[in-house]
Amino acid sequence: MNELAGKHIVLGLSGGVACYKAADLCRQLIKEGATVQVVMTEAAMQFITPVTMQALSGRPVHGSQWDAREPNNMPHINLSREADAILVAPCSADFVARLAQGRADELLSLLCLARPQERVPLLLAPAMNREMWAHPATQRNLAQVAQDGATVLAVGNGDQACGETGDGRMLEPEELLEEVIAFFTPKVLAGQKVLVTAGPTFEAIDPVRGITNHSSGKMGFAIARAAREAGAEVTLVAGPVHLATPRGVHRINVQSAQNMLEAVMQKAQRASVFIATAAVADWRPATQSEQKIKKDGSGQTPVLGFVENPDILATVAQSQHALVGDLFCVGFAAESHDLLAHATAKRQRKGVPLLVGNLGPATFGQDDNALLLVDAQGHRELPRASKRILAQQLVAEIAQRLPALQA
Ligand SMILES: Cc1cc2nc3c(=O)[nH]c(=O)nc-3n(C[C@H](O)[C@H](O)[C@H](O)COP(=O)(O)O)c2cc1C
Repeated sequence: MNELAGKHIVLGLSGGVACYKAADLCRQLIKEGATVQVVMTEAAMQFITPVTMQALSGRPVHGSQWDAREPNNMPHINLSREADAILVAPCSADFVARLAQGRADELLSLLCLARPQERVPLLLAPAMNREMWAHPATQRNLAQVAQDGATVLAVGNGDQACGETGDGRMLEPEELLEEVIAFFTPKVLAGQKVLVTAGPTFEAIDPVRGITNHSSGKMGFAIARAAREAGAEVTLVAGPVHLATPRGVHRINVQSAQNMLEAVMQKAQRASVFIATAAVADWRPATQSEQKIKKDGSGQTPVLGFVENPDILATVAQSQHALVGDLFCVGFAAESHDLLAHATAKRQRKGVPLLVGNLGPATFGQDDNALLLVDAQGHRELPRASKRILAQQLVAEIAQRLPALQA
């Protein structure tokens, strides 16, 4: 999608086994449109060769402050001035210690120190053994570099190259890519607490069967990701879907509409924006058999009665928190025809400021979609695009409508 088009990133590698992941990270950054200049410490070159990184980045790798290839012989100045960001991945414990002290005895730490702090952010992706990570010296150094303006990314937990298990693994390349993209996203939802529902609900008939729908959750998950990237604290209440949780998003899994309502009502009180993307079942079986309903060979089919499910969007929109204007509610309508008429009517019926219409058959399970935004002023189409792009556009539209941000 070229989400990093026009960005120039200095990718610094310090010494650690996770250097092998930096090769993939380099590829992924370039695939997203960034240009990448690799700088390696001497220790990093023990783990992976500059040849690999040069081949992947398409640029000669730098590894020494004495490198005479630069006409002025000052790679630390030239490389740091060109960069939109410096990302050190992997960032060794030793490298953090050097940063914390402001050391500059090799090229990578030298260019970090020499960078213009106000316009070249420094992102660190630590990678180390769990004992090194937990050591007070490392934690002290990390706190110091964060205080000095670096962004310290999280570490993963799990099996480590040394055979131990715990905290300190470097994030995976795709996770780091998500973090870099998030870092560059304008923070139009800073300070907002966004609650999103996504996916279908599952209404049980008996312990092994139930009624659900084709919603994949992709739209709601994309919105949760975009909202978090825009600076919001995001809670995602998800029906049964097989999608990875976007980074930095708090996820609550639910099954039925009633479960979803309970989870939403608990979280809505603290939220400032509610986006109801989930395709909630309108009805559920009136009774739920505790045991599997058996076919008895008589040819008789079971008779299912239905009761109406709670209307989650309307319930939240009519809560005191929303009525006094502390919660901005956004509804979704999945229709099969007459989108504008249905979406307009639904907006009024539910009492929400913004209703987003989409055609169910054209969105369920798809990676792209088209949206119709209906508010008190009228309507606006967001033409067919990937759900990722639509989610970013919708987040921008919501941000514009939030009273506190307009002031
Ligand atoms: C096999 C091996 C694996 C290592 N893995 C790591 C690691 O994952 N993280 C780390 O902080 N140091 C690790 N080290 C130690 C660093 O390579 C060492 O501290 C080095 O001085 C780092 O130099 P640099 O910060 O200039 O790259 C490892 C050392 C060896 C020999």
